[in-house]
Amino acid sequence: MSYKVSVTREIPDPGLPMVKEIAPDARVNPHDRVLTREELLDYVKGCDGVLCLLTDPIDAEVFDAAGPQCKIFANYAVGYNNIDVDAATERGILITNTPGVLTDATADHAWALLFSTARRIVEADEYMRAGKFEGWGPMMFLGGDITGKTLGIVGAGRIGTAFALKSKGFNMKVLYYDLSRNDELESELGATKVDLDTLMEQSDYVSVHVALTDETTHLIDADKLGKMKSSAYLINTARGPVVDEVALIEALKSGSIAGAGLDVFEDEPEMKPGLADCKTAVIVPHIASATIWTRSKMAEMAASNLTAGLKGETPPNLVNPEAAK
Ligand code: GLV
Ligand code: GLV
Repeated sequence: MSYKVSVTREIPDPGLPMVKEIAPDARVNPHDRVLTREELLDYVKGCDGVLCLLTDPIDAEVFDAAGPQCKIFANYAVGYNNIDVDAATERGILITNTPGVLTDATADHAWALLFSTARRIVEADEYMRAGKFEGWGPMMFLGGDITGKTLGIVGAGRIGTAFALKSKGFNMKVLYYDLSRNDELESELGATKVDLDTLMEQSDYVSVHVALTDETTHLIDADKLGKMKSSAYLINTARGPVVDEVALIEALKSGSIAGAGLDVFEDEPEMKPGLADCKTAVIVPHIASATIWTRSKMAEMAASNLTAGLKGETPPNLVNPEAAK
């Protein structure tokens, strides 16, 4: 049986060869860019399955454009806030993601942002390249200490936990905010579960690791930012809208916090006005999972999920099992 499949953007090997194995005529976006809304609606039309990206807004209109035969949308990401899962479930369409394989890459990247923000690596690099270094100075590029400081984890799921565990070598005190207790963090690190206000007040580094939902939108707002120490830093490798970016820019400009390391943005790929002028922010384009191994594993997982869904099997990373009933 031949399946009609679309892939909304090229993904690394072995993703496409795996897709082509089950759907030799799969339509793959040939452009190195996100499909427009019109193109997306056209790509999904009549498909049995779609491999989509976190940059594709997938909602009821898209599912209806695909049609009643459609079995699965396999997202190439662990986060699936781009997909209206309820609308999929109502239509019996399976939704899958790529958890696990990007946990360490994302946690590592949060550390890269933490270090580069605290130690002003980007600013210092620019200074060097501009030929401004005229000799060692006692006041040059003073930043924040890391070893022995307090680390606050907002969202102690897979990625938040991996990020926290990597603090071992830096002998940090670890606080976490989550709905559930995390035994691993408590036994491995002596971490303490606290409410969000306490975490914001006491942490020297606050790192955000929650999924984006209605409840976590602007979880870190002006009020929460206002509770942070003026010497503290905010790191976000989760999703932009978890942090009120306008309030964050205000906090950076007024110096009410020491800096921020950001991988994600509220209106991606746009930045809110003024962020690019904030010297104490390190800002990178949503690259936390961007390692060669991780992106390839994500491709393999998304293609495996798609293949299982097309064959009527239960995909390994199904996020809406109710849809299969
Ligand atoms: C990346 O942001 C992902 O959710 O995989
Ligand atoms: C991401 O999937 C997480 O659980 O942190």
